[in-house]
Amino acid sequence: QVTTPLSPPPMTISDDFALAFDIDGVLIRGGQAIPEAVEAMKYINGENPYGIKVPYIFLTNGGGKTEQERCQDLSRQLEYEVCPGQFICGHTPMREMVERYKTVLVVGGEGEKCRIVAEEYGFENVVTPGDIIKTRHDTTPFRKLTDEEFKNSRVLDLDSIRIEAIFVFADSRDWAGDQQIILDCLMSKDGQLGTRSETYDEGPPIYFSHNDVVWSTSHEHSRLGMGALRASLEALYKAVVGKELKTVAFGKPQVGTFQFATRLLQQWRSDSHGIDTPPSTIYFVGDTPESDIRGTNEFNEISENEWYSILVRTGVYQEGTIPRFPPKKIVNNIYDAVKFAIDREQ
Ligand code: G3P
Ligand code: MG
Repeated sequence: QVTTPLSPPPMTISDDFALAFDIDGVLIRGGQAIPEAVEAMKYINGENPYGIKVPYIFLTNGGGKTEQERCQDLSRQLEYEVCPGQFICGHTPMREMVERYKTVLVVGGEGEKCRIVAEEYGFENVVTPGDIIKTRHDTTPFRKLTDEEFKNSRVLDLDSIRIEAIFVFADSRDWAGDQQIILDCLMSKDGQLGTRSETYDEGPPIYFSHNDVVWSTSHEHSRLGMGALRASLEALYKAVVGKELKTVAFGKPQVGTFQFATRLLQQWRSDSHGIDTPPSTIYFVGDTPESDIRGTNEFNEISENEWYSILVRTGVYQEGTIPRFPPKKIVNNIYDAVKFAIDREQ
């Protein structure tokens, strides 16, 4: 008797649940894909016993490049196409502030990349620390611009420029110089560099694209992140000015970020799969209890859909410790996470 191999079940798109993935520590570490991530992408795109494809989005606190460029990187790392329509990074929701500010200081990231992001968002006049140092080299006594930085930086007319807001889009590569420049702005009169306010309440607001104090890289121990710079700056401001500094952080665990993610997920389900009904459950897979799990659990309290937090052991969270914000489920890695979610929905 010849048995024909069972043909795989016809592929169906699951419309009643969805997946959302953190990136660093879940899919990627130090620029390399975590081994199980490549298999997980195949599993959620139909290579599973149920023959289902599950819509998903990516929600990272990382940044420093355009969403387009980040998606190209991720497509290569995961060996699966990732589109900007399913991708949110730390500064993505900050594009909505183009309506409010025209001249902004953008801090962090490599070279001109964050200026390119801000200009692509529509900010009319984007100033970088490199521009300020090129214009007044004595701004930072111990930092000299490289030839490349000098070439790409712009000379500013300090008499006319007014910094309306400060954005920290990505991790600073020069904590001393960047904090000096940020303090100069915060202590200025109406954002005019070189001036000092008597009351220190006339400077521009400062926004951080996230508040991760640590994050997961190729190093076996977590590395300091943007939240650490924020804490450092607040301590410096207190020491120099003698007042508390008010700062605003975007990214996870902020509710606004999860609301933004809910809208993007619905748009992505509609555009890519023709699904116009909301998912009943979104499984969020993260590695950092303080951002991923906290944000998912707190948003679940107010969201119409169920947000189900899954914590993996491949990133910031360390096996054997008690997570400060308890997830619904702890698994070893992203493959076990997606398998658990899909099995649970059957
Ligand atoms: O700089 C990014 C890092 O803080 C965490 O990124 O992908 O784990 O949210 P992610
Ligand atoms: Mg992470």
